[in-house]
Amino acid sequence: MCGIVGIAGRSEVAPRLVDALKRLEYRGYDSAGVATISSGRLDRRRAEGKLVNLEERLDGEPLPGTVGIGHTRWATHGAPTESNAHPHFCNGVAVVHNGIIENFAPLRAELIAGGSVFHSQTDTEVVAHLLAGYRTDGLTPREAMGKAVPQLEGAYALAVLFEDEPDMILGARSGPPLAVGHGKGEMFLGSDAIALAPFTDEITYLEDGDWVVITRDGLEIYDEGGSRVERASQLSQGAAYVVDKGNHRHFMEKEIHEQPEVVSNTLSHYVDFAEGRVKLEAAQLDFANLDRLAMSACGTAYYAGLIGKYWFERFARLPVEIDVASEFRYREMPLPGRMAALFISQSGETADTLASLRYCRANNLSIGAVVNVRESTIARESDAVFPTLAGPEIGVASTKAFTCQLSVLAALAMIAGRARGTLSAEDETDMVQALVTAPRLFNEVIRAIEPQIVTLSRELARFKDVLYLGRGTSFPLALEGALKLKEISYIHAEGYAAGELKHGPIALIDENMPVIVIAPHDRHFDKTMSNMQEVAARGGQIILITDEKGAASASIDTMATITVPEAAEIIAPMIYSLPIQLIAYHTAVFMGTDVDQPRNLAKSVTVE
Ligand code: AGP
Repeated sequence: MCGIVGIAGRSEVAPRLVDALKRLEYRGYDSAGVATISSGRLDRRRAEGKLVNLEERLDGEPLPGTVGIGHTRWATHGAPTESNAHPHFCNGVAVVHNGIIENFAPLRAELIAGGSVFHSQTDTEVVAHLLAGYRTDGLTPREAMGKAVPQLEGAYALAVLFEDEPDMILGARSGPPLAVGHGKGEMFLGSDAIALAPFTDEITYLEDGDWVVITRDGLEIYDEGGSRVERASQLSQGAAYVVDKGNHRHFMEKEIHEQPEVVSNTLSHYVDFAEGRVKLEAAQLDFANLDRLAMSACGTAYYAGLIGKYWFERFARLPVEIDVASEFRYREMPLPGRMAALFISQSGETADTLASLRYCRANNLSIGAVVNVRESTIARESDAVFPTLAGPEIGVASTKAFTCQLSVLAALAMIAGRARGTLSAEDETDMVQALVTAPRLFNEVIRAIEPQIVTLSRELARFKDVLYLGRGTSFPLALEGALKLKEISYIHAEGYAAGELKHGPIALIDENMPVIVIAPHDRHFDKTMSNMQEVAARGGQIILITDEKGAASASIDTMATITVPEAAEIIAPMIYSLPIQLIAYHTAVFMGTDVDQPRNLAKSVTVE
């Protein structure tokens, strides 16, 4: 996902643009650039790779000007080269863009037929040529935007400079977010509040279809029909969080260790620890009168949803239909009777998840969202927002957001159970008591197992393939563990329901593929024990993650046995998330990969 910034300022902007882009690095990128207007002339500096390369370029060739735009590019069309880096120019117009312009090819062909000469392979450059053409025809910048933007199909956020209008920046939003920051005698544009946090915490979020003109003195917002509209400003939380690594090597390491605190914050939003009850007022969805619940998400958030499905069905007797968002919306799932839909997303901007939400909205379902960014698009398009209070999650590999999502889903399943009369007051009290212990257990687990996992990870880094197995709520954890390992260490890993081993994967078992088995000593343990024996009988090496009872009764040789404290069923998935996160993290550290910004990945996938 790309990052956009813009400053209509009173002092030199190039260094501040780069500072703001640094706060967007978490999105993942492979080139960057800035453009300013000075003495009536547009100029730019661009560089491949990390922002340090752009800074070196600017040190060697300073870029003057008090109005400018900047961009970190995550390549979608064209290689991550300097010529494909944004900003893109055409006859006095500069454009930076986040998203995908789906109809760029016919637009490009039409422009080339009209004499345009393109200098990049990007979809973005089309916008610069369109706008420049309308300016040549005598249209004002506002008129040119009003003509060009409606021609663009797809998901995009744009920021635009016009050389002959040096005091203004224009922006447009259709999909990926775009925010305006209100400064003192300055105005800002950015992809999110985190980018703007160094300048202001007063933020106005553009709605889908909006476009905006900013100058030092203020802003004008227009809706997709071209009518002037007002959008309220708000104080953003983005500035409230110190986004740095503290004393950790990586954001991911910091975020793993933040989990006791943020899970506690999140739970306290939904659970009255003093009363030992869940907070019914947090419900917002009419769980008592639902026949079914649809759920949809992507990646790690989807795995949290899979665990939530077990809980809603077990504790609230509420049938759940869940699918990955990229499949959900195209299945055209029948949505009969009394249904609601719940969407899970750390960023709140994932395109597939948003599209699935809009599909359910079009089918008149009540919409709930479990999100970590309360100002996000998914949050703003939902009837009920269930925040995870994880704070900004910068590492591309989701960790603290996942355990906070599990916290919310556990609380919601209990609230639904209360509302539907399927959860007794006694069971509720017991489960709340278990939730109360989660933050402390997090701390104990991390301290107890991390040294052992560092040693184990050095071993794991030697392998090319790893299999994760689990049953019940440990099956989605097996999927999540495999995703964590593959996405940051680049080792191929697969998660499987342990009961499926005999239906194919057992053919893979030999000494070259470690098998990580997630097995609390619960009602599934004995059957999972049999799976481990099947693996051992074929020379497979087992890494067992279990509790004291499981370790004591597992009569089998293992490559390693990681023992965590005994955990009640409602918190076991959170507790067992820690070893799988730490295994992935430390293995990636040994592999020397870019742990926080792994190759090819973005923190939030705002394109389909
Ligand atoms: C998880 O580690 C990955 N970064 C990815 O699968 C992520 O969970 C997925 O893209 C969904 O993102 P979201 O929660 O912001 O919607």
